[in-house]
Amino acid sequence: MYVLGIETSCDETAAAVVRDGIEVKSSAVYSQIARHRPYGGVVPEIASRSHVELLPSIIEDALEQAGVRWPDIDRIAVTYGPGLSSSLLIGLSAAKALAMRLGVPLTGVNHLEAHLFSVFLGGNAPRPGEVCPMVVLLVSGGHTCLVRLEASLESTLLGQTLDDAAGEALDKGANLLGLGYPGGPAIEKAAEGGDPHAIDFPRGLRQSRNESTGGLDRARCFSYSGLKTALLYYLRNNPDAVTEDTLRDIAASYQEAVIESLMRPVENALEGEKVKALACVGGVARNRRLRARLDELAVRAGVRLLLAEPEFCTDNAAMIAAAAGMGAGVEVPPEGDLDVCPNLGLAGAV
Ligand code: KG4
Ligand code: ZN
Repeated sequence: MYVLGIETSCDETAAAVVRDGIEVKSSAVYSQIARHRPYGGVVPEIASRSHVELLPSIIEDALEQAGVRWPDIDRIAVTYGPGLSSSLLIGLSAAKALAMRLGVPLTGVNHLEAHLFSVFLGGNAPRPGEVCPMVVLLVSGGHTCLVRLEASLESTLLGQTLDDAAGEALDKGANLLGLGYPGGPAIEKAAEGGDPHAIDFPRGLRQSRNESTGGLDRARCFSYSGLKTALLYYLRNNPDAVTEDTLRDIAASYQEAVIESLMRPVENALEGEKVKALACVGGVARNRRLRARLDELAVRAGVRLLLAEPEFCTDNAAMIAAAAGMGAGVEVPPEGDLDVCPNLGLAGAV
């Protein structure tokens, strides 16, 4: 069964063809980063206009690279949330039109759920039955959460950030340091050769704070609010601190604090859940320092570590098609309708 996946939730315009829920035949992604960079972040109006302009050719690329033609497509899968409403609408409208024209079913996919499945993509990736139940750390620009994933692909939210996402903390930190957008890769590059312990930035949730965790175990939740402020004050109090030499230490210390803040809640979740593996997915999972730290943690906890392949960490449509191919998502009957859900959460999320 061939599924054509479409992803337009933010600033990547993507289409992919996946066979039998697992075999990626093609994954075409146009990253709009260069279009948003002058503004220091994603501009919704530019994103949706770019999707309109780029999506038709990206879909054609996906079909051509997969070596399939329209009649070969058995199902259309599309992200219906969460994301920017005007961007989601472009992908959903295209998907509806294609499903109707081809007479095939349409599946609306939760973007967050699709990220969870990205560890099952790629030549050497395991099957869910081999590695589940597992704890998945999802770290992206908009979300940071811990999820328990069963072999049945059912997921339970274990913990989440109480304020910023890890990627957001990196993007904001890079902005304060004048490193540009997106911040994650910029900080990773600037941190090369720097001392991660040069500056002691705060890590994780401060115990005295009492914001609501929405019923989730506080020991499995994340927080980045103190970290950004600490960097801001550090730069204010040390106006001459940022030189070519010190920038790498500041970037390395800030990156370390972002990564370190993820470790304790992950460790707590692994201690409490009886699982076979730890997985990490989402854009921040590309970070090499994070990958190395998770490797150490998994060895200590005695579980297998699964890291999504770098091309499937950041937003892509292969994970959308795969999710639908594995039976996830909402199937829309021919006469039914589906709307975008910009604030869609994971099942069980608050
Ligand atoms: O998953 P993603 O592509 O989009 C969302 O769904 O949010 O994640 C984007 C995030 C951005 O915050 C970006 O700075 C971060 O992933 N990112 C990284 C790296 N590459 C992308 N963070 C740290 N290190 C990287 N190499
Ligand atoms: Zn994403």
